[in-house]
Amino acid sequence: MPAKNIEELIALCKRRGFIFQSNEIYGGTQGLYDYGPLGVELKSNLKNAWWKSIVYERDDVEGLDAAILTKSTVLKHSGHEDTFSDPMVDCKSCGERFRADQVPDYCKKEDLTEPRQFNLMFKTNIGPVDDGKSFAYLRPETAQSIFTNFKNVVDSTARTVPFGIAQMGKAFRNEITLKSFIFRVREFEQMELEFFVRPGDDDKWHKSWVESRVQWWNDQGISDMSLELYDVPADELAHYSKATVDIMYKFPHGVEELEGVANRTDFDLGSHSKNQKELNIKANVLNNNESNSKLALQDENNNWFVPFVIEPSAGVDRGVLAILNEAYSVEEIDGKERVVLKLKPHLAPIKAAVMPLKKNDENIVSLAKKVKDNLQKLGLGRILFENSGNIGKNYRRHDEVGTPVCITVDFESLDNQTVTVRDRDTMKQERISLDKISEHLKKIV
Ligand code: GAP
Repeated sequence: MPAKNIEELIALCKRRGFIFQSNEIYGGTQGLYDYGPLGVELKSNLKNAWWKSIVYERDDVEGLDAAILTKSTVLKHSGHEDTFSDPMVDCKSCGERFRADQVPDYCKKEDLTEPRQFNLMFKTNIGPVDDGKSFAYLRPETAQSIFTNFKNVVDSTARTVPFGIAQMGKAFRNEITLKSFIFRVREFEQMELEFFVRPGDDDKWHKSWVESRVQWWNDQGISDMSLELYDVPADELAHYSKATVDIMYKFPHGVEELEGVANRTDFDLGSHSKNQKELNIKANVLNNNESNSKLALQDENNNWFVPFVIEPSAGVDRGVLAILNEAYSVEEIDGKERVVLKLKPHLAPIKAAVMPLKKNDENIVSLAKKVKDNLQKLGLGRILFENSGNIGKNYRRHDEVGTPVCITVDFESLDNQTVTVRDRDTMKQERISLDKISEHLKKIV
């Protein structure tokens, strides 16, 4: 059962150290959040799961990690300087500023100014002299550096279509209206794949990527019941898109986009390429006299063509929010509430907590530490040595943060080298011999 409302999740995130408001001790900054000790693990597990499935488990995708600061020329030819803007209005009565399509009910129509376009990109200066020309943008999407590195990747890997380039990392948008905790923020992370295909094969690949991305979200614990597909109508498509299917999730505040899967045609490679006139580019691109690279491939007859691009683009933060919401559940056990985060074990911030029954018994503590060290060496993720003493409280805390397994070392462990292993979801406890504990944990995580 997902959370009743966003407040429940926000409270859990703060209480247990998943997510904090940025700059909180100075009053906070709207639209910026920090990931705490458990949040950083959850987020990195989600990103690793994506990378594993997109890069390692396929033989047709390469990875990239490019600079965030982006030359304005790139974002001119990508269309962002001209079109990456939202209509903004001011309310003369309350003094607040909104996206024109997101004005709250408490503002009267007659108090609103005429909408004007507001570009969402953050600008900063490169180098010591601020002459107005040497500025760069903080990238608004990770995609553009994939396109600008297209030739580097092709030349260094000898790839040809169909193949993809994947990148995950920060993106920045000066959003006018923020929304629902980490759902719409100004600094966030994306997991983007640009998958290059032969023109004509694009519709087939688009369909196949939508299916495989839905399956991936299922594998992260998001059930089909919580997902919807939205075929974006022509009048809502981004400037580069021929077709987009949004994978929508039932967030606590409503059904909204978790990931978009777009057919970007040859718009991007065509836009950033030199010699555009020779390339029979299908998309409507800006004339480019600044690029020094021909972003095209040769077919078996040595004819040049510009690949089409299918782009599954997911938000890491929205993924974290959806996964937390989906995993959150409240059960009644013997008349008492149990909050349990039923995260898929591969996403759990802590894979196992090892706890000595008595925190001041040297032998038990030292055996528990040994168990922790041995399990840590398996490389499954974080194993926590939990020495606060109260086993019942520890169980409750670890249920709430989604730790799949709690391992208790007690007096019997000293005699017969067994430990008590408690399962988060069933709460069943079993005694397992220490020489079998690694295999047991490996099976779960
Ligand atoms: N390269 C394509 C692109 O950036 P997008 O639909 O603007 O497309 C892709 O963004 C994903 O990035 C969205 O589906 C969403 O998950 C995430 N995203 C976009 N803006 C965001 C914001 N302000 N805060 C959090 N996540 C955001």
